[in-house]
Amino acid sequence: SEDEVVNITYVLRDGTERKIRGKVGDNVMFLAHRYDIEMEGACEASLACSTCHVYVDPAFKDKLPEPLEEEDDMLDMAPALKDNSRLGCQIVLSKELDGITVTLPTMTRNFYVDGHVPKPH
Ligand code: FES
Repeated sequence: SEDEVVNITYVLRDGTERKIRGKVGDNVMFLAHRYDIEMEGACEASLACSTCHVYVDPAFKDKLPEPLEEEDDMLDMAPALKDNSRLGCQIVLSKELDGITVTLPTMTRNFYVDGHVPKPH
C-alpha cells in the first residue's frame, strides 16, 4: 500500500540521482541491486567488507539505528570515511526514512576477512 512506500534517492558515482520507490523493510543495498544501481556488496550483507559504503544524508543520520560494532569495524576499512558514513547493507527502510538520500563514494575497497571469499561472477 501507499503507506509502505519509502522514497529514496541514490546519488551515483558520477553525481546523477536515481529516485526509487522502496518499501518499508527494504535493504538499501539489495534495493540498489534490484534497480541496477552500482552499489557494490561483495560479502552479500554479512558485514565482512566495506564495499557497500554510502554517505547518508545528514538530516537522516540520527534516524538510523546505531551501527553494530562489526559495522564500525568494517567502516574503518573504507576509504574516504566521513561522519555520515554507513554500510548500505545495514540500512533497512522505515517510514521515518522516507525522502532519504544516500550517496555512493567515488572509491570502495574490496576487503575480505579470513574465511570470506568473493562469489565468482
Ligand atoms: Fe559487505 Fe555490506 S555488503 S558489509
